[in-house]
Amino acid sequence: MSEFHSKIRTIQWTDNCSRMVDQTLFPYEYKYVDIKSGDEMFAAIRNMIVRGAPAIGIAGAHGIVLYAIEIAKQISNRDEFISTLLEKADYMKTSRPTAVNLMWAVEKQKEIIKNSSSGISGIVEELKQNGIKLENEDIEINKKIGDYGAEVVPKGATILTHCNAGALATVGYGTALGVVRSAYAKDNTIQVFADETRPRQQGARITTLELTMDGIPTTLITDGMCSYFMKKGMIDMVVVGADRIASNGDAANKIGTYTVAIAAKYHNIPFYVAAPLSTIDTNIETGDEIVIEERSREEVTHINGKIICAPEVNIINPGFDVTPHELIAGIITEKGILRPDYKDSIKALGI
Ligand code: MRU
Repeated sequence: MSEFHSKIRTIQWTDNCSRMVDQTLFPYEYKYVDIKSGDEMFAAIRNMIVRGAPAIGIAGAHGIVLYAIEIAKQISNRDEFISTLLEKADYMKTSRPTAVNLMWAVEKQKEIIKNSSSGISGIVEELKQNGIKLENEDIEINKKIGDYGAEVVPKGATILTHCNAGALATVGYGTALGVVRSAYAKDNTIQVFADETRPRQQGARITTLELTMDGIPTTLITDGMCSYFMKKGMIDMVVVGADRIASNGDAANKIGTYTVAIAAKYHNIPFYVAAPLSTIDTNIETGDEIVIEERSREEVTHINGKIICAPEVNIINPGFDVTPHELIAGIITEKGILRPDYKDSIKALGI
């Protein structure tokens, strides 16, 4: 296991509510908010107070606990309690469509609801305990991903990453940035190049913040610069996260990832995806089946509340793109690094 100790805890069930870092305030404030109801959690996920695939999974699991607490105060009939709660669970899954970890975690809670033999208060308690368990497991999974990934990081490497697949996209430690943390624990000469990641600037606002907090050398670049630095021989590898991986290894991640993968292939730079098994969706064959979230026009037309373009211009704003499996050198998971042919290596996981 890695010796790196990150200071960051993104989300935690505490005092009967879900305490999370408000990521809309970065980099100006690092402040925790308490989410106290299921509807507040739905809004926190949709408005990206909490974001990053594994983190919104845990947020969804906490959201079901919050709904359960509320419904238990209103309904005393057990069957009615269960059917109302299952409806709310399905509603929670619609808060963001692309990251499959949300569906995965909510389904884990639904299994508890359906299989429990307890009364209402017992079910609420079981959901709470399961939420805490999923939360703690997330950090352990990320550390394993980090340690497997560190094995393929060359000495003194410069690692390019896109968006934020860090401690702040998970409960703690991170997936892509978990690889960085574990590699840095072994070799403090490695460094990170972070893509800014328009439109919401997760790279600039979040990745630079968390890596700086943990003392890892980081250089911020704008999205269009990656091929320039690749051509100059300044990037040794790319590691990104994922929001959903199809059975053939196609991987959805923040918009712009596909461009980075194409540039990496052209320059013979290995492009890795780091993600937990909960990001792999074996219900779909290829990335064509992944629903891509369409986000608001203001994310593109405005920066920090100020308009940056002609007000009437047309806007299209997909939140994610899909990197085809043939551009991916390996998928780093908690069970090791999957290699092509991904259809076979994913099937062999038996998930
Ligand atoms: O829209 P976001 O900020 O939730 O998107 C996040 C990303 O695309 C991450 O890179 C991805 O979720 C991987 S998280 C470990």
